Amino acid sequence: MHKGGPMRFGIVISVFSLLGLIGSTAAQEEPVVQVYKSPTCGCCSVWVAHLEKNGFTVNTTDVPNTGTIKQEQGVPRRLGSCHTAVVDGYLVEGHVPAEDIKRLLTDRPALKGIAVPGMPIGSPGMEGPNPQPYDVLGFDEQGNVTVFSSH
Ligand code: CU
Ligand code: CU
Repeated sequence: MHKGGPMRFGIVISVFSLLGLIGSTAAQEEPVVQVYKSPTCGCCSVWVAHLEKNGFTVNTTDVPNTGTIKQEQGVPRRLGSCHTAVVDGYLVEGHVPAEDIKRLLTDRPALKGIAVPGMPIGSPGMEGPNPQPYDVLGFDEQGNVTVFSSH
């Protein structure tokens, strides 16, 4: 019993490292993000590049009127921004950081989506000299809005 102890401990460690390896490999393969944006939106493309840099595969669709998409998808009017994205059943409105989307997809809260209303300077794709603090807001089917994260 005492003799086999360290050996067994070693095996347990190996299994855990293996699981860790599988976990980190899976984490790099994020699901496809479908982005709807206007063809002339520059900051939208910078945000798309931010997502790709963070492991997401992004499919972009240029639409003549992003307001129509927001209405169709059910983005609350007051949470609107320049682009609307759909990923794994969730809505992502505006310049939401990739880390928040990853947490959304991992935790899978009872939300319809998350949003960064407007276009705050300092959010991904809106980098600028005077970054301002901003919140990522969660919204549900009933129209309840909560703070998902603060930056
Ligand atoms: Cu924008
Ligand atoms: Cu945009």
